Amino acid sequence: FSFAALPHQDFLRCLSLRSDDYSSISKVVFTPTNPSYESVLDASIWNLRFNSTDTPKPLVIVTPTKISHVQATIYCSRKHGLQTRTRSGGHDYEGLSFVAKVPFVIVDLVNFRAVEVDVENRVAWVQSGAILGELYYRIAEKSRALAFPGGIFHTIGVGGHISGGGFGLLFRKYGTAADNVIDAQFIDVEGRILDRKSMGEDLFWAIRGGGGGSFGIVLAWKLCLVPVPATLTEFTVSRTLEQNATELVHRWQSIAHDLPDGMYPNVALRSIKSTQDGTKTVVAIFSSLFLGTIDELLPIMHNQFPELELSRQNCREMSWIESILYETGIQNQPLEILLNRTFRTPLDNPFYKIKSDYVKEPISEAGLKGLFSRLTEEAAASTSIVFFAYGGIMDRIPEDATPFPHRTGNLYKIFYNVGWQEENKVNSQIYLDWARRTYDYMTPFVSKSPREAYINYRDLDIGSNNIGYTSYAQASIWGHKYFKDNFDRLVHVKTTIDPDNFFKHEQSIPTLY
Ligand code: FDA
Repeated sequence: FSFAALPHQDFLRCLSLRSDDYSSISKVVFTPTNPSYESVLDASIWNLRFNSTDTPKPLVIVTPTKISHVQATIYCSRKHGLQTRTRSGGHDYEGLSFVAKVPFVIVDLVNFRAVEVDVENRVAWVQSGAILGELYYRIAEKSRALAFPGGIFHTIGVGGHISGGGFGLLFRKYGTAADNVIDAQFIDVEGRILDRKSMGEDLFWAIRGGGGGSFGIVLAWKLCLVPVPATLTEFTVSRTLEQNATELVHRWQSIAHDLPDGMYPNVALRSIKSTQDGTKTVVAIFSSLFLGTIDELLPIMHNQFPELELSRQNCREMSWIESILYETGIQNQPLEILLNRTFRTPLDNPFYKIKSDYVKEPISEAGLKGLFSRLTEEAAASTSIVFFAYGGIMDRIPEDATPFPHRTGNLYKIFYNVGWQEENKVNSQIYLDWARRTYDYMTPFVSKSPREAYINYRDLDIGSNNIGYTSYAQASIWGHKYFKDNFDRLVHVKTTIDPDNFFKHEQSIPTLY
């Protein structure tokens, strides 16, 4: 790379001096004058809201292939006053891994994606830049009896996902992804390489769910793999408002939480147009994965939720690895599609805004009707709202076991996925307004003091830090929503490991001072 005529040339010079091998680091550094800069940047931008001409771009992207490249980048960014953003899969819902309002550098871990599976000991080491699909594929390649309880979309990065907790098909049986981490490889602000023993239990606790981008860079995770049967069953039952959807959703709220741990009950709500007269209605799509066969599932559902009238025709048997494709609507593709980092599933919207809520008491039918009527508005055409049942092992893991505090007492979580297909400023404001109005409408029905939210469903509407100084008081507003009482312990860990607050962003954990 060339130093000439670049505002960040001191940083680049520092990188070359600092690196033990100049020729190797020069190949993984991209500035805007490099012909590959844009493709490297865009490769992991999923939410196109953050890929417009107005979006601030990084001065430099580093795609390290060695640990020394990561260490040199941290050192030189500190020395030259540049902010560092770490990117694994780039799925952050507010783009915080690749957008900053100050001069910044991206450490993109795309080349740190090795996966080593040890079937005998039921563990795996996975580097943060791997996508979940790579992890799942490599596990299934070696054993169809083992799995990992992480999220569903295969292009999610391991690094950001586990940093924020991570829930998926198996979470009611085995907990979050972070609950199943047993060691990690971590680089701190001084460039030290730490593992669980050398970092200590406080920091090891914090990186498993305390949110990415606050403490340092996690390079790899040691995971505990979990057993799954050879045959799993997936069912889907759809009902419109005219087919009693309101009553069924109302009933589901009291039942789903108590279904067996090996289920993943959820109900997705979206609007559809009637094929007859074009009027809009809402469809409720009830589904679940079940760790067992159709014959085992049917009696459970007939006993616990007879109103759904689940029949054999609504069910499909498959393996765990096939369920990953099935759940994201990927059809007629070989399992190798899981290795494809850029494959968009049919469920991906190009532009979106996400919000989340937790529900402790069933919402009344009148309350549900109000939500459904909003879904038939024009601005909600590409929107889905999904209720994910809690319960199972989540009721038995203490709130402070990891920073992820949403455990017992929750009936379900709400995922508001407000999407749109085309972007212009007026257009997107309509959808953002709809998301915020709907969230306001839901206030009386959801958790209070704090109104809880899930950190991996990043939402800057619930509060953010100042660009320069990050105050504890200001960060507490969003911090208690994501972490409840665990927030203070996270602040304590942050103050110890990164006292000058080098690793920061709009929702990073602040230091105490
Ligand atoms: P990205 O690279 O954008 O990182 C996210 C945050 O973590 C950023 O702040 C980043 O700086 C930081 N970070 C990244 N790598 C780091 C590292 N190695 N060390 C330290 N900090 C790091 N969630 C869920 O729980 N279950 C699910 O099923 C889904 N499904 C889903 C589908 C789709 C289509 C999307 C877009 C998102 C989800 N999510 C989800 C949310 C997802 O878990 C969340 O966005 C993760 O943070 C994404 O991790 P990435 O590595 O992809 O993001």
